[in-house]
Amino acid sequence: MRSLINITDLSVEEIEELISVANDIIANPEKYREKCRYKKLAALFFEPSTRTRLSFEAAMLELGGSVLGFSEAQSSSAAKGESVADTAKTVSCYADIIAMRHPKEGAPMVAMMNASIPVINAGDGGHNHPTQTLTDLLTISREKGSLNNFTIGFCGDLKFGRTVHSLITALSRYENIKIYLISPEELKLPSYVKNDVLKKNNIEYIQTTNLEEAIPNLDILYMTRVQRERFFNEEDYLRLKDRYILTPEKLIGAKEDLCIMHPLPRVNEISPSIDNDKRACYFKQVLNGKFIRMALILKLLEVE
Ligand code: NCD
Repeated sequence: MRSLINITDLSVEEIEELISVANDIIANPEKYREKCRYKKLAALFFEPSTRTRLSFEAAMLELGGSVLGFSEAQSSSAAKGESVADTAKTVSCYADIIAMRHPKEGAPMVAMMNASIPVINAGDGGHNHPTQTLTDLLTISREKGSLNNFTIGFCGDLKFGRTVHSLITALSRYENIKIYLISPEELKLPSYVKNDVLKKNNIEYIQTTNLEEAIPNLDILYMTRVQRERFFNEEDYLRLKDRYILTPEKLIGAKEDLCIMHPLPRVNEISPSIDNDKRACYFKQVLNGKFIRMALILKLLEVE
C-alpha cells in the first residue's frame, strides 16, 4: 500500500506516468467517470483550505466515488484532544484513502504509520505540500512542454512556503534547472532545503532580494504569499507582507513566454491587472490540480 508524504516518495518515472494519466483525463474525461465507484475519500483538514480540499473532493466525485471528512480541527475530535494516530485508525474503518492537511510538520506521516489505507499529505505546516507540486509539474509540463531546461524564480516567503520546498525538491531531479531565490533576508529558503537539496544535487541557484533584476532571466516566476499563520509576531508580518507585488510595469523586461505561477491564495503579491495577461498561469494551475489529484487517487487505490 502506497502513500504520498514527500514528493520524493514518487520516482521521476511515476511522476511522468501521473502527468500522462492527467493529460489523458483532460482529453477523455468520460473514460474515468466510474473508476472509483463505491470508493470513499476522507478529507481531513485541520487547517484552512479552498483549492486543495475542494480539488480532492471534486477529483473523487469525478471518478464516481464519494467524499467524507471535516474542514476544520474544531469540528473533529481533535478539539477534544484526540491524537492524529487515533484519528487515522478511526478513519481507516470508514474510508479507502485519506487526504490530510495539518498545521504540525510530520502529522500526515504519523497518520500514515497508523492508518491501514493510503494517506496523502495535503500540506503539513511549513514543511511540504507534494500534491501542489504535482499540480505545478503538470502545469509546467503543459505550458513549457518539458520539465527540463528552464530558469525558475521563486519569490516571496521561501522560509515558510511549503509549496516552494516541495517544488524545489522535485525540480532537483530534472536536467538543467536554474533557480532564483528571491526573498527578504528574513524569509530566505531554510538551510535544510539549500543544503540537502540544492547543494547536494549541484543545482545552480542565485539568492537575491531584487525581483525586478531577476525577472528578465526567468522562464517561470513562482510567486508566493507571506505565510501569516506561521509568523511569531504580527509586526514582522505587516513589515514583510507587501514586499513583492507583481505589477504590469515589472513585467516590461520579462520574456514573452514567461509563465507566471502562484499556488494561491493570493493576497497582494500579483496585481489582478495581470490576470488577463497570457503569461498568467495561476488559474490554469487551479484546474490542473483537480486532474493530477484524480490521477494520484487512481494510482494509490491501484485502479486500472
Ligand atoms: C498553499 C498552501 O496551502 O500551502 N495553498 C495551496 O494549497 N494551493 C499556499 C498558501 O497557502 O500560501
